[in-house]
Formats: sequence, C-alpha cells, structure tokens
Amino acid sequence: MDIKGKVAIVTGASSGIGEATAREFARGGAKVVLAARRVDKLESLAKEIDAIGTGAQAHVVQADLARLDDIEKLVNETVQKFGRIDILVNNAGFGRLDWLENLDPVKDIRAQIDVNVMGVIQTTRLVLPLMIKQRSGSIVNMCSMAGLIGTPTYTIYSASKHAVHGFSEALRREVKPWGIDVSLVYPGGVVTEFASHAGIKRKTKATTPKFMLLTAEQVGQAVVKLVRRPRRMWIIPWMWGFTVFMNRFFPGFVDSVNINRFTVPEREDELKAK
Ligand SMILES: NC(=O)c1ccc[n+]([C@@H]2O[C@H](COP(=O)([O-])OP(=O)(O)OC[C@H]3O[C@@H](n4cnc5c(N)ncnc54)[C@H](OP(=O)(O)O)[C@@H]3O)[C@@H](O)[C@H]2O)c1
Repeated sequence: MDIKGKVAIVTGASSGIGEATAREFARGGAKVVLAARRVDKLESLAKEIDAIGTGAQAHVVQADLARLDDIEKLVNETVQKFGRIDILVNNAGFGRLDWLENLDPVKDIRAQIDVNVMGVIQTTRLVLPLMIKQRSGSIVNMCSMAGLIGTPTYTIYSASKHAVHGFSEALRREVKPWGIDVSLVYPGGVVTEFASHAGIKRKTKATTPKFMLLTAEQVGQAVVKLVRRPRRMWIIPWMWGFTVFMNRFFPGFVDSVNINRFTVPEREDELKAK
C-alpha cells in the first residue's frame, strides 16, 4: 500500500514505538490519528506532524484502550474527520513483570489483558466493517518475542501477546478476501518507557544484550514497511528467530536455561527460607 494520503490510526502514540510509527507515517504523507491517554504528548506530536510538510495531517483522540466507549469515540472521530480508515496499528500496551503471585489481580493482571488483548480485539472489530466496505485495509498488530516464548515474570504479558498472535493469525485468514492484510511484528527489547512501567526487580544481570536492543524508530520503520509490503510475521532483530527455533524444537533445553540461569538465582533467598 502506498501510504501517501492514507488514513492511519496509531494507538499508543504518546511515546515509544507508537510515537515513532506515527512520525514515520507522517514522513510518508499519511493522515495520522494519534490515540492514547496522555493528550498533552499527543498534541505536541500532532503539531510536529502538521509542520512536517509532506502533506501529512494529525488528529488527536484521547482514549483509554481498556474502555469500549473510548474506542468507539476513536473510530467515530476518525471517520468524521477523514471519512475512511486505511491503516490500523494496534500498538498500545504495557507489561507488569513480576512473579505471578505478586501481581495485583486488577491493576496488573486484568489491566494488561484489557489493554493488550481486549483493546486490540475491540478496536479491530470496530474498524473492520469500514475496511470491508472499502475492500482494502492494512492492520498491523504489535506483538513481542513474549508472544512466541514464555519467560519467567512475563506470565500475563506473555499470555496477552500469545493472544494477539492467535487473534491475528485467525483474522488474517478471515479478511484476506476483502483485500485486507494483517501483519504481526515481534520485536525483542526496545528502548522506550516500557521498562519504567513494568516494575522490574532483578538481582541477576539477565537482560537483553545491548547489541540486540532496538530503538523505537527501528520498530516504527518496520511497522510502516509492513503496511507497504505486508508479511505474516516479522521478528526483529532476526537473531531472535534462533531462540524461537530452539523453544519450538528443544523446549526442555530452553526450560533448563530459564530455570537455572534466571528463576533459581533470582529466587535463591526465598527458596532457601523455611
Ligand atoms: N519496549 C519493548 O521492549 C517492547 C518489545 C516488544 C513489544 N513491545 C510492545 O510495543 C508496544 C508499545 O510499547 P513501547 O515499548 O513503545 O512502550 P511505551 O513507550 O511505554 O508506550 C506504550 C504506549 O501505550 C499506551 N498505552 C498504555 N496503556 C494504555 C491505555 N490504557 N490506553 C491507551 N493507551 C495506552 C501509552 O500511552 P498513555 O500512557 O499515554 O495512555 C503509550 O503511548 C506495546 O504493545 C508493547 O507491549 C514493546
């Protein structure tokens, strides 16, 4: 799809990957609808986009993606403003990364499912009839390596991203005959605000090696490339594909590495306590 003049909704556009994705659409001359809760951040990005000079335009919608009425407002306002929706990037999401028994049932568990899963499903459900009517559209869903591999402290986040994976795979097979593409992107670690909201407490140095870390801009560029040239799945950086292979065909080995190199050293004191 040529993105010039196309109407794109980007959820979670107030920071990180969503913000970078919106900028990338604007560079290509798209009309971008920016959605998130922090409206001040969206408005300053909108100003920047309106001044970019590629014919790009921005429209801000304050929306909590956990709320159906806000999602309805997002879709209705987009149609009122621009008359159509060509592209939907379901990017808004967050993780709370702790041992399952430490997670708050509502603020951590329910909230992650509400935004990361229900937000994606409900936004797509409301945009789809328009795309079907247009007989064209592109949907890019933000997954994660956690949508392919489960690692300790990522239980709920991983469940949410596995749900995005399954939802998107089924949807892709439903909507292709209408000229609608569904692509999935699976980034590894990305330097954004994500970690600061995740409540990570770690004793070991287990973390993504620096050379594997991505910038939000790299992921934003990948999202726009997926709109231009859809793909079923895109793992970035590609080296993570090796871990996915190992997890699929040698799960016992991956279990052992996770348990012995992460869970046991992290929980050593608790395991020793009577
Ligand atoms: N960073 C990583 O390592 C990484 C790796 C793989 C995948 N991802 C995925 O990439 C996506 C973007 O994350 P990021 O890394 O860019 O983190 P980020 O900088 O924290 O951005 C998260 C975005 O989601 C929005 N959001 C969160 N809760 C929301 C809610 N209830 N309603 C509306 N918007 C909400 C935030 O906006 P407001 O707070 O203003 O609402 C913000 O714009 C997420 O789906 C994340 O799971 C991240």
